Amino acid sequence: MRRILLTSALPYANGDIHLGYLLEAVQTDIWARFQKSRGHECHYVCADDAHGTPVMLRAEAEGVSAEDLIARMRGEHLRDLSAFGIAFDHYGSTHSPENRELSAEMFRKLRAAGRIAEREIEQLFDPERGMFLPDRYVRGECPRCGAAGQFGDSCEKCGGVYAAAELKNPVSVFSGAAPVRRSSRHYFLRLAADGDFLREWVFENIADPGGGEKTIPRLQKEAANKLREWLSGELRDWDISRDAPYFGFRVPDCEEEKYLYVWLDAPVGYMASFMQLCARGGMSFEDFWGENSAAELYHFIGKDILYFHALFWPAMLKNSGRRLPTRVFAHGFLTVNGEKMSKSRGTFITARRYAESGLPADALRYYYAAKLGDGIDDIDLNLGDFVLKYNGDLVGKFVNIASRVSRFLLEDFGGELDGEAQSGEGFSAVVAPILALSDSLARDYESRRYHSAMRSVMRAADSINGYLDEKAPWVMRKDKTKRAQLHQTCSAALRGFHLLTAYLLPVTPQLADDAAKFLQCGPPQWAGLSPLPAGHRVGEYRHLLRRMQNENARALIQAEESCA
Ligand code: 2FM
Ligand code: ZN
Repeated sequence: MRRILLTSALPYANGDIHLGYLLEAVQTDIWARFQKSRGHECHYVCADDAHGTPVMLRAEAEGVSAEDLIARMRGEHLRDLSAFGIAFDHYGSTHSPENRELSAEMFRKLRAAGRIAEREIEQLFDPERGMFLPDRYVRGECPRCGAAGQFGDSCEKCGGVYAAAELKNPVSVFSGAAPVRRSSRHYFLRLAADGDFLREWVFENIADPGGGEKTIPRLQKEAANKLREWLSGELRDWDISRDAPYFGFRVPDCEEEKYLYVWLDAPVGYMASFMQLCARGGMSFEDFWGENSAAELYHFIGKDILYFHALFWPAMLKNSGRRLPTRVFAHGFLTVNGEKMSKSRGTFITARRYAESGLPADALRYYYAAKLGDGIDDIDLNLGDFVLKYNGDLVGKFVNIASRVSRFLLEDFGGELDGEAQSGEGFSAVVAPILALSDSLARDYESRRYHSAMRSVMRAADSINGYLDEKAPWVMRKDKTKRAQLHQTCSAALRGFHLLTAYLLPVTPQLADDAAKFLQCGPPQWAGLSPLPAGHRVGEYRHLLRRMQNENARALIQAEESCA
């Protein structure tokens, strides 16, 4: 049995869960459910990313304390994610005593290892607001191309990257005042000495924890290419402190009011969330985070935060005597109808909006799975295609099997399956080929090629439907001499349906639950999966899914527009 710890990136406490974040949560949740179904010990943790300037400012704007804001947002995030079947084993917050403790420990160990530098730096300061300006809170003319209204870190017009202090004619977003330069003492994580270690770690091939014979790369090809670029130059020190006012943890052992930058304590939040789970679940924290841990650790992230997870985070872990991630899985962004999600176009669809529309969560989970591979390409949610896939695959192929045979089984055989669970014509034609899919399907799930897994499952559903077309049980039924054959045909199709339910369970847990109720068997797990036995009795059949109308999906966008 493998011991696995999984994380999704921590959502910021100042924003709503939207369909883009759900792409990542669904991708991780499918993997977690798959590993559990295979019989492995697997823990999936996440938390709210509670610190930083935007959270502080939003609380201020709402006239509430930051603590109240983050408590409320965490509740909303959990509600929204649960509505999509995201089954965390624990969902914490980075503003927790455990995280305060672990972040301070991390900082002190890094300092003891000689990895923390301190120096004075000059930054832009808003004299009216009395605060240093984060890059995103100052605008001015691009120092490269002169474009007006650019942020303090990069230019949207020419793509130039620069320091805020280089902007021409800068103004503070808060007060409109011209910022002044002011110096302050900051703490930095020194990375220069870790170049060799990081190059080795990033480009290393590792033994396949999934049991394959070949070794596999630690990072995806595209991610490794990005890192090659970053690692080819000198690794610059990373500023990990912020001046007051700030919402976060104080820099340990520092007299002045300085705070740890949100990106320092955020990944430590993975550890803190797991620590809270250990307190509840009786696992040993050190088994998973100790330097020589034999457990597997995976981070699912968006490609935009690769830098933090594949450079800063491994350097932080290594220099503080912790284990390193086994692998980091990056994914692309979500586009809606081919374009970047946008509030003004109404395509910034929140999880709440979707859940309230009444569309099934499993429909979105299935659509994402059908599109997700192991790469970092963007994924498009095309609403027309979404309706077609749901109606065509889940309703028209998968559920159709149960609805085609359940009535005959119930009316003619009292819901009981025939005696040929492991032999006979139906077994060879339908059940055995589906059992034989198990290994290749498991490999697809393991390597996150969910699109390929979904294609195989739907091909198998097609073949059961083809078998039913050919056998035509509705014709057999009219001929009393064909009763045994009718029983055999319907039982084989239903046993195939049961196996496919197990294969789909990581993707469509609600549908699998409902199917299991009808099958009277409990949600079928992959480990030890076998055909429903001779004489097994199924229950009452109710429609498992309803067809989706185009208007329902289109309403997702119109509804957003009307409240924009
Ligand atoms: O980019 C983000 O949305 C961050 N809140 C992700 C943090 S992930 C981790 F490192 F904590
Ligand atoms: Zn520019």
